Amino acid sequence: MVLLSPGALGPAADAAARCGATDQFVLPDREEAKSLIVVSRVYEWLAELGLDRHDTILAVGGGAATDLAGFVAATWLRGIEAVFYPTTLLGAVDAAIGGKTGINFAGKNLIGSFHLPSRVLINLDLLETLPATLRLEGLAEALKAGYVADPDLVDLLASRGEEVALDEVVERAVKVKVATVEADYRESDRRAILNFGHTVGHAVEILAPMPHGLAVAVGMVAAATVSNARFGFDHRQLIETIFGLGLPVAAAGVSLESALQLIARDKKRSAAGVRMVLLEAPGSPVVEPVTSDLLEVGLRAVGIT
Ligand SMILES: NC(=O)c1ccc[n+]([C@@H]2O[C@H](COP(=O)([O-])OP(=O)(O)OC[C@H]3O[C@@H](n4cnc5c(N)ncnc54)[C@H](O)[C@@H]3O)[C@@H](O)[C@H]2O)c1
Repeated sequence: MVLLSPGALGPAADAAARCGATDQFVLPDREEAKSLIVVSRVYEWLAELGLDRHDTILAVGGGAATDLAGFVAATWLRGIEAVFYPTTLLGAVDAAIGGKTGINFAGKNLIGSFHLPSRVLINLDLLETLPATLRLEGLAEALKAGYVADPDLVDLLASRGEEVALDEVVERAVKVKVATVEADYRESDRRAILNFGHTVGHAVEILAPMPHGLAVAVGMVAAATVSNARFGFDHRQLIETIFGLGLPVAAAGVSLESALQLIARDKKRSAAGVRMVLLEAPGSPVVEPVTSDLLEVGLRAVGIT
Protein backbone atom coordinates (compact mmCIF):
# COMPACT_ATOMS: atom_id res chain seq x y z
CA MET A 1 0.00 0.00 0.00
CA VAL A 2 1.21 3.52 -0.82
CA LEU A 3 0.04 6.86 0.55
CA LEU A 4 -1.04 10.01 -1.30
CA SER A 5 -1.56 13.03 0.93
CA PRO A 6 -0.81 16.75 1.24
CA GLY A 7 2.33 16.56 3.38
CA ALA A 8 1.48 18.86 6.24
CA LEU A 9 -1.37 16.71 7.52
CA GLY A 10 -0.64 15.18 10.93
CA PRO A 11 -3.15 12.35 10.48
CA ALA A 12 -1.36 11.10 7.36
CA ALA A 13 1.47 9.51 9.29
CA ASP A 14 -0.88 7.84 11.75
CA ALA A 15 -3.20 6.51 9.03
CA ALA A 16 -0.28 5.29 6.94
CA ALA A 17 1.22 3.43 9.88
CA ARG A 18 -2.10 1.82 10.82
CA CYS A 19 -2.76 0.72 7.24
CA GLY A 20 0.81 -0.40 6.60
CA ALA A 21 1.62 2.10 3.82
CA THR A 22 5.25 1.85 2.77
CA ASP A 23 5.87 5.02 0.71
CA GLN A 24 4.33 8.49 0.53
CA PHE A 25 3.81 10.92 -2.34
CA VAL A 26 3.26 14.46 -1.03
CA LEU A 27 0.45 16.12 -2.99
CA PRO A 28 0.06 19.87 -3.53
CA ASP A 29 -2.72 21.34 -1.40
CA ARG A 30 -6.33 21.91 -2.47
CA GLU A 31 -7.27 22.17 -6.19
CA GLU A 32 -3.61 22.21 -7.24
CA ALA A 33 -3.58 18.47 -6.55
CA LYS A 34 -6.31 17.84 -9.14
CA SER A 35 -4.25 18.42 -12.31
CA LEU A 36 -2.97 16.17 -15.08
CA ILE A 37 0.57 17.29 -14.21
CA VAL A 38 0.20 15.88 -10.71
CA VAL A 39 -1.46 12.74 -12.10
CA SER A 40 1.51 12.23 -14.41
CA ARG A 41 4.03 12.77 -11.57
CA VAL A 42 2.20 10.21 -9.45
CA TYR A 43 2.20 7.71 -12.36
CA GLU A 44 5.99 8.17 -12.70
CA TRP A 45 6.39 7.53 -8.98
CA LEU A 46 4.16 4.43 -9.12
CA ALA A 47 6.19 3.13 -12.06
CA GLU A 48 9.44 3.61 -10.13
CA LEU A 49 7.95 1.75 -7.17
CA GLY A 50 6.67 -0.99 -9.48
CA LEU A 51 3.18 -0.83 -8.03
CA ASP A 52 1.20 -3.84 -9.24
CA ARG A 53 -2.46 -4.89 -9.48
CA HIS A 54 -2.48 -6.22 -5.91
CA ASP A 55 -1.34 -2.92 -4.40
CA THR A 56 -3.61 -0.31 -2.88
CA ILE A 57 -3.52 3.48 -2.87
CA LEU A 58 -4.38 5.10 0.46
CA ALA A 59 -5.48 8.75 0.25
CA VAL A 60 -5.41 10.87 3.40
CA GLY A 61 -6.77 14.40 3.04
CA GLY A 62 -9.72 16.47 1.92
CA GLY A 63 -11.87 15.98 -1.16
CA ALA A 64 -9.11 17.26 -3.46
CA ALA A 65 -6.74 14.50 -2.32
CA THR A 66 -9.35 11.73 -2.55
CA ASP A 67 -10.58 12.95 -5.99
CA LEU A 68 -7.00 12.84 -7.34
CA ALA A 69 -6.09 9.55 -5.67
CA GLY A 70 -9.33 7.96 -6.84
CA PHE A 71 -8.57 8.92 -10.43
CA VAL A 72 -5.04 7.54 -10.21
CA ALA A 73 -6.34 4.31 -8.67
CA ALA A 74 -9.03 4.03 -11.37
CA THR A 75 -6.51 4.33 -14.19
CA TRP A 76 -3.25 2.77 -12.93
CA LEU A 77 -3.01 -0.72 -14.50
CA ARG A 78 -6.67 -0.22 -15.53
CA GLY A 79 -7.73 0.04 -11.91
CA ILE A 80 -6.34 -0.86 -8.50
CA GLU A 81 -7.86 -0.59 -5.03
CA ALA A 82 -8.22 2.74 -3.26
CA VAL A 83 -8.78 3.34 0.45
CA PHE A 84 -9.83 6.83 1.58
CA TYR A 85 -9.21 8.46 4.94
CA PRO A 86 -11.04 11.81 4.61
CA THR A 87 -9.70 14.52 6.93
CA THR A 88 -12.39 17.14 6.22
CA LEU A 89 -16.05 16.87 7.14
CA LEU A 90 -17.00 17.60 3.51
CA GLY A 91 -14.75 14.75 2.45
CA ALA A 92 -16.28 12.37 5.00
CA VAL A 93 -19.93 13.09 4.18
CA ASP A 94 -19.57 13.66 0.46
CA ALA A 95 -16.34 13.61 -1.60
CA ALA A 96 -14.94 10.29 -0.32
CA ILE A 97 -18.26 8.47 -0.76
CA GLY A 98 -19.80 7.31 -4.02
CA GLY A 99 -16.92 6.66 -6.40
CA LYS A 100 -16.78 9.90 -8.41
CA THR A 101 -13.21 11.02 -9.07
CA GLY A 102 -12.24 14.34 -10.63
CA ILE A 103 -9.40 16.21 -12.30
CA ASN A 104 -9.63 19.87 -13.32
CA PHE A 105 -8.95 20.44 -17.03
CA ALA A 106 -10.37 23.43 -18.91
CA GLY A 107 -12.96 23.55 -16.13
CA LYS A 108 -13.65 21.89 -12.79
CA ASN A 109 -13.82 18.08 -12.74
CA LEU A 110 -14.04 17.79 -16.53
CA ILE A 111 -11.88 14.66 -16.41
CA GLY A 112 -12.81 11.80 -14.12
CA SER A 113 -14.07 8.30 -13.71
CA PHE A 114 -16.33 6.25 -11.51
CA HIS A 115 -14.22 4.10 -9.20
CA LEU A 116 -15.47 3.09 -5.76
CA PRO A 117 -12.97 3.01 -2.89
CA SER A 118 -12.83 -0.41 -1.26
CA ARG A 119 -12.95 1.23 2.19
CA VAL A 120 -13.56 4.70 3.63
CA LEU A 121 -12.13 5.23 7.11
CA ILE A 122 -13.81 8.06 9.02
CA ASN A 123 -12.17 9.32 12.21
CA LEU A 124 -14.80 11.34 14.12
CA ASP A 125 -12.31 12.49 16.77
CA LEU A 126 -10.21 14.04 14.02
CA LEU A 127 -13.23 15.71 12.41
CA GLU A 128 -14.16 17.30 15.78
CA THR A 129 -10.82 19.16 15.71
CA LEU A 130 -11.40 20.88 12.36
CA PRO A 131 -11.10 24.67 12.01
CA ALA A 132 -14.50 26.44 12.02
CA THR A 133 -14.77 27.05 8.26
CA LEU A 134 -13.98 23.43 7.34
CA ARG A 135 -16.56 22.26 9.88
CA LEU A 136 -19.18 24.65 8.49
CA GLU A 137 -18.51 23.55 4.91
CA GLY A 138 -19.16 19.95 5.86
CA LEU A 139 -22.29 20.88 7.84
CA ALA A 140 -23.64 22.61 4.71
CA GLU A 141 -23.25 19.42 2.66
CA ALA A 142 -24.80 17.37 5.49
CA LEU A 143 -27.75 19.78 5.56
CA LYS A 144 -28.10 19.33 1.81
CA ALA A 145 -28.26 15.55 2.32
CA GLY A 146 -30.97 16.12 4.92
CA TYR A 147 -33.07 18.35 2.68
CA VAL A 148 -33.04 15.93 -0.24
CA ALA A 149 -33.54 12.66 1.65
CA ASP A 150 -33.52 12.80 5.48
CA PRO A 151 -35.79 15.42 7.13
CA ASP A 152 -34.74 14.14 10.61
CA LEU A 153 -31.18 15.21 9.81
CA VAL A 154 -32.53 18.69 8.98
CA ASP A 155 -34.32 18.77 12.36
CA LEU A 156 -31.14 17.64 14.14
CA LEU A 157 -29.05 20.39 12.54
CA ALA A 158 -31.81 22.98 13.02
CA SER A 159 -32.22 22.20 16.71
CA ARG A 160 -28.55 21.81 17.70
CA GLY A 161 -26.93 24.36 15.36
CA GLU A 162 -23.18 24.62 14.86
CA GLU A 163 -22.40 22.76 18.08
CA VAL A 164 -24.13 19.56 16.90
CA ALA A 165 -22.20 16.35 17.70
CA LEU A 166 -20.81 14.94 14.49
CA ASP A 167 -21.42 11.20 15.01
CA GLU A 168 -25.13 11.24 14.10
CA VAL A 169 -24.66 13.90 11.41
CA VAL A 170 -21.94 11.92 9.64
CA GLU A 171 -23.78 8.61 9.91
CA ARG A 172 -27.01 10.05 8.50
CA ALA A 173 -25.38 12.06 5.72
CA VAL A 174 -23.26 9.08 4.64
CA LYS A 175 -26.39 6.89 4.58
CA VAL A 176 -28.14 9.39 2.28
CA LYS A 177 -25.17 9.50 -0.08
CA VAL A 178 -24.72 5.71 -0.14
CA ALA A 179 -28.43 5.04 -0.74
CA THR A 180 -28.58 7.64 -3.51
CA VAL A 181 -25.46 6.32 -5.22
CA GLU A 182 -26.68 2.73 -4.93
CA ALA A 183 -29.90 3.75 -6.67
CA ASP A 184 -28.07 5.50 -9.53
CA TYR A 185 -24.29 5.04 -9.57
CA ARG A 186 -23.66 6.85 -12.88
CA GLU A 187 -26.01 9.78 -12.29
CA SER A 188 -28.56 9.06 -14.96
CA ASP A 189 -31.34 10.48 -12.76
CA ARG A 190 -31.68 9.99 -8.97
CA ARG A 191 -28.08 10.90 -8.06
CA ALA A 192 -28.67 14.40 -9.45
CA ILE A 193 -30.63 15.25 -6.26
CA LEU A 194 -27.25 15.55 -4.52
CA ASN A 195 -26.71 18.71 -6.58
CA PHE A 196 -29.30 20.60 -4.49
CA GLY A 197 -27.84 24.10 -3.97
CA HIS A 198 -25.05 23.50 -6.48
CA THR A 199 -26.41 25.32 -9.59
CA VAL A 200 -26.23 28.74 -7.97
CA GLY A 201 -23.61 27.49 -5.49
CA HIS A 202 -21.01 26.85 -8.21
CA ALA A 203 -21.50 30.37 -9.60
CA VAL A 204 -21.16 31.91 -6.12
CA GLU A 205 -18.07 29.76 -5.40
CA ILE A 206 -16.33 31.25 -8.45
CA LEU A 207 -17.69 34.78 -8.52
CA ALA A 208 -17.92 35.77 -4.83
CA PRO A 209 -15.51 33.86 -4.41
CA MET A 210 -16.38 31.66 -1.45
CA PRO A 211 -15.35 28.16 -0.21
CA HIS A 212 -17.43 25.39 -1.80
CA GLY A 213 -19.55 24.41 1.21
CA LEU A 214 -20.40 28.00 2.10
CA ALA A 215 -21.36 28.71 -1.53
CA VAL A 216 -23.63 25.63 -1.46
CA ALA A 217 -25.42 27.14 1.57
CA VAL A 218 -26.15 30.29 -0.48
CA GLY A 219 -27.16 28.10 -3.42
CA MET A 220 -29.64 26.20 -1.19
CA VAL A 221 -31.30 29.50 -0.22
CA ALA A 222 -31.65 30.37 -3.92
CA ALA A 223 -33.01 26.91 -4.81
CA ALA A 224 -35.41 26.97 -1.84
CA THR A 225 -36.74 30.37 -2.93
CA VAL A 226 -37.35 29.02 -6.45
CA SER A 227 -39.02 25.98 -4.83
CA ASN A 228 -41.28 28.32 -2.89
CA ALA A 229 -42.32 30.13 -6.09
CA ARG A 230 -42.82 26.82 -7.93
CA PHE A 231 -44.32 24.51 -5.26
CA GLY A 232 -45.07 26.68 -2.23
CA PHE A 233 -42.14 25.11 -0.35
CA ASP A 234 -41.57 26.79 3.07
CA HIS A 235 -38.20 28.37 2.33
CA ARG A 236 -38.14 30.47 5.52
CA GLN A 237 -37.43 27.40 7.65
CA LEU A 238 -34.46 26.53 5.41
CA ILE A 239 -33.10 30.09 5.62
CA GLU A 240 -33.44 30.10 9.42
CA THR A 241 -31.63 26.75 9.66
CA ILE A 242 -28.76 27.92 7.46
CA PHE A 243 -28.54 31.19 9.39
CA GLY A 244 -28.67 29.30 12.72
CA LEU A 245 -25.72 27.14 11.67
CA GLY A 246 -23.67 30.28 11.02
CA LEU A 247 -23.63 29.67 7.26
CA PRO A 248 -24.05 32.52 4.73
CA VAL A 249 -27.50 33.15 3.25
CA ALA A 250 -26.38 35.66 0.60
CA ALA A 251 -23.40 36.53 -1.60
CA ALA A 252 -22.11 40.08 -1.75
CA GLY A 253 -20.66 41.70 -4.86
CA VAL A 254 -21.90 39.22 -7.50
CA SER A 255 -23.69 40.74 -10.49
CA LEU A 256 -26.84 39.13 -11.88
CA GLU A 257 -25.39 39.22 -15.39
CA SER A 258 -22.17 37.38 -14.51
CA ALA A 259 -24.06 34.76 -12.47
CA LEU A 260 -26.56 34.13 -15.30
CA GLN A 261 -23.72 33.83 -17.82
CA LEU A 262 -21.86 31.31 -15.71
CA ILE A 263 -24.97 29.25 -14.98
CA ALA A 264 -25.90 29.27 -18.70
CA ARG A 265 -22.60 27.49 -19.40
CA ASP A 266 -23.62 24.78 -16.94
CA LYS A 267 -23.43 21.34 -18.52
CA LYS A 268 -26.88 20.47 -17.12
CA ARG A 269 -28.65 23.07 -19.26
CA SER A 270 -31.38 22.04 -21.75
CA ALA A 271 -33.53 24.03 -24.20
CA ALA A 272 -36.21 24.39 -21.51
CA GLY A 273 -33.78 26.01 -19.05
CA VAL A 274 -31.15 25.13 -16.47
CA ARG A 275 -31.89 21.88 -14.64
CA MET A 276 -32.17 22.60 -10.93
CA VAL A 277 -32.94 20.51 -7.89
CA LEU A 278 -36.03 21.94 -6.20
CA LEU A 279 -37.96 20.83 -3.13
CA GLU A 280 -41.68 20.16 -2.70
CA ALA A 281 -40.94 19.49 0.98
CA PRO A 282 -37.89 18.40 3.02
CA GLY A 283 -37.01 14.94 1.69
CA SER A 284 -39.02 15.39 -1.56
CA PRO A 285 -36.72 16.73 -4.27
CA VAL A 286 -37.71 17.34 -7.89
CA VAL A 287 -35.15 17.84 -10.66
CA GLU A 288 -36.49 19.98 -13.49
CA PRO A 289 -35.56 22.74 -15.95
CA VAL A 290 -36.14 26.20 -14.54
CA THR A 291 -37.01 29.26 -16.67
CA SER A 292 -34.65 32.23 -16.51
CA ASP A 293 -37.37 34.30 -14.76
CA LEU A 294 -37.60 31.78 -11.92
CA LEU A 295 -33.82 31.48 -11.74
CA GLU A 296 -33.60 35.25 -11.36
CA VAL A 297 -36.04 35.10 -8.44
CA GLY A 298 -33.62 32.71 -6.71
CA LEU A 299 -30.56 34.80 -7.51
CA ARG A 300 -32.15 38.03 -6.27
CA ALA A 301 -33.10 36.30 -3.01
CA VAL A 302 -29.39 35.80 -2.24
CA GLY A 303 -28.39 39.38 -3.04
CA ILE A 304 -27.35 38.78 -6.66
CA THR A 305 -28.89 41.77 -8.47
N1 LIG B 1 -15.97 13.12 -5.71
C1 LIG B 1 -17.06 13.68 -5.20
O1 LIG B 1 -18.15 13.11 -5.20
C2 LIG B 1 -16.94 15.05 -4.59
C3 LIG B 1 -18.01 15.57 -3.85
C4 LIG B 1 -17.84 16.81 -3.26
C5 LIG B 1 -16.65 17.51 -3.41
N2 LIG B 1 -15.64 16.97 -4.15
C6 LIG B 1 -14.36 17.67 -4.32
O2 LIG B 1 -13.77 17.84 -3.04
C7 LIG B 1 -12.94 18.99 -3.07
C8 LIG B 1 -13.19 19.82 -1.83
O3 LIG B 1 -12.89 19.03 -0.72
P1 LIG B 1 -12.56 19.69 0.70
O4 LIG B 1 -13.61 20.66 1.04
O5 LIG B 1 -12.26 18.58 1.62
O6 LIG B 1 -11.30 20.61 0.37
P2 LIG B 1 -9.73 20.33 0.13
O7 LIG B 1 -9.43 18.92 -0.09
O8 LIG B 1 -9.32 21.33 -0.89
O9 LIG B 1 -9.12 20.75 1.54
C9 LIG B 1 -9.37 22.06 2.02
C10 LIG B 1 -8.23 22.48 2.97
O10 LIG B 1 -8.36 21.78 4.21
C11 LIG B 1 -7.09 21.31 4.61
N3 LIG B 1 -7.31 20.18 5.51
C12 LIG B 1 -7.66 18.94 5.19
N4 LIG B 1 -7.85 18.21 6.31
C13 LIG B 1 -7.60 19.03 7.35
C14 LIG B 1 -7.61 18.85 8.76
N5 LIG B 1 -7.96 17.69 9.32
N6 LIG B 1 -7.32 19.93 9.54
C15 LIG B 1 -6.99 21.12 8.99
N7 LIG B 1 -6.96 21.34 7.66
C16 LIG B 1 -7.26 20.29 6.86
C17 LIG B 1 -6.44 20.95 3.29
O11 LIG B 1 -5.05 20.82 3.44
C18 LIG B 1 -6.85 22.15 2.45
O12 LIG B 1 -5.99 23.24 2.67
C19 LIG B 1 -13.22 19.72 -4.37
O13 LIG B 1 -12.18 19.50 -5.28
C20 LIG B 1 -14.50 19.06 -4.87
O14 LIG B 1 -14.59 19.07 -6.28
C21 LIG B 1 -15.76 15.75 -4.73
